Amino acid sequence: MLKQTSYLSKTYGMPEGWTLPVYEKECDGYATAKRVLTTMTPEQVVTEAKKANIRGRGGAGFPMGVKWSFMKPHPTKPAYLVINADEGEPGTHKDRTLMELNPHAVVEGCIIGCYGIGAHAAYIYVRDELHLSKERLWAAIEEAKKKGYLGARPFGKDYAVEVYVHTGAGAYICGEETSLLNSLEGRRGEPRLKPPFPAQAGAFGCPTTVNNLETIAAVPSAFKIGCEEFSKLSDIHHLNDGGVRLFGVNGHVKKPGVWECAVGLTLRELIYDLGGGIHGDKELFAIIPGGSSTPVLRATDVVDAPDEKSPLHKWHGMSVLDVPLGVDTFRGLGTMLGTCCATVMAEGTCPVAAMHNLMQFYRHESCGQCTPCREGSGWLLRICEKLMAGTATMDELDQMHDIANNIMGNTICAFGEGTAMPALGFLKKFRKEFEAYVRGERKGSDAKLALEGMFS
Ligand SMILES: Cc1cc2nc3c(=O)[nH]c(=O)nc-3n(C[C@H](O)[C@H](O)[C@H](O)COP(=O)(O)O)c2cc1C
Repeated sequence: MLKQTSYLSKTYGMPEGWTLPVYEKECDGYATAKRVLTTMTPEQVVTEAKKANIRGRGGAGFPMGVKWSFMKPHPTKPAYLVINADEGEPGTHKDRTLMELNPHAVVEGCIIGCYGIGAHAAYIYVRDELHLSKERLWAAIEEAKKKGYLGARPFGKDYAVEVYVHTGAGAYICGEETSLLNSLEGRRGEPRLKPPFPAQAGAFGCPTTVNNLETIAAVPSAFKIGCEEFSKLSDIHHLNDGGVRLFGVNGHVKKPGVWECAVGLTLRELIYDLGGGIHGDKELFAIIPGGSSTPVLRATDVVDAPDEKSPLHKWHGMSVLDVPLGVDTFRGLGTMLGTCCATVMAEGTCPVAAMHNLMQFYRHESCGQCTPCREGSGWLLRICEKLMAGTATMDELDQMHDIANNIMGNTICAFGEGTAMPALGFLKKFRKEFEAYVRGERKGSDAKLALEGMFS
């Protein structure tokens, strides 16, 4: 059921909504951080945070409170909170709205998060081209400092907290948390082997929690109304997916945008009720549900979950468009919720051209550290180019499966899966269209226009 909310986005339409006076007046800004720091212990903060069931909003869906609980005090090293605002995933455009329109929720979330995990400093890693985002965050930090909410004694409490903005140079791989940490330290943005995980050895070799920017911005609201209550705002909190989140839609819809709703909104509601339906009132063809790394769904796909024990059984036989958007529900559909920003393709879009477009991106953004990803992404792109040129063979279609499967699980970071999964998804769902290119029934020059507006 469509349940629009305004916990994160209340200030979005307001004049000067990004400033401290508006945040204080409209959102009771910083009252929650003050209460948390002055009345709760860090252990209580983490226990409470777990009850919110906030699944990480950066794409992997790891529960925020559980991640915080991995942080153990180190005898000699400081701890850090690092906020991931790289937002490089094609089709994803939600964190930016928070930085531009409600930056104080991010800063307040950092104060509570730092206190909970035992850190005195938070670094917000923002990609450099997001100029307005940086300006708004810098201004918010200054305003909070002047009021004594940040610094040596926030709210008079003897627990120093500082928040810094660090700018990245705009490499997609620097959104991967360990590359981000390398980049933050001034090193080349290449993923690190895990273990050690960031909670053991993260920024500057110290215990670190990396949270997505939306994840941390949800913290003040969750603590304000009580984390258990926050969790229950979700339509599918019984599936361990709590609260509210930002939902985005882009591509061939009439009204691309970002809305805040209770977790559990369906794709149908997102595309038709919020996104205004398909351009030119065409039929819906396919959807990439949560950023370009998540496998594509056909609009005609139905849920196949006859087993009563399956979390998806309730939706057995129904259209995938009517399944609530949740971390586990979408995993059950063979795709991922990812960043919850859907890319919509209208009837007439060419899936082969769409995959070609994506493979250009992944080939370009592979950091090159792992051979299967570096070579595999290039190989996938080259076959896509041959398909578009009408020179690919049926054998090469099969080879694409092998190449993608050989990337999966054989790389240091999940960029490999992020390349292979969408490739396998397109190949599986649109085999007929791929074969039509091989047989010369379709060619690349027919397809270009159909991609207009995608990943906008
Ligand atoms: C290639 C790649 C790019 C990523 N880009 C982002 C990103 O831009 N923003 C983000 O929050 N997480 C991104 N992630 C996920 C992060 O590694 C990490 O899981 C996330 O920041 C953790 O925050 P969360 O638990 O709050 O979701 C990316 C992962 C991969 C593999």
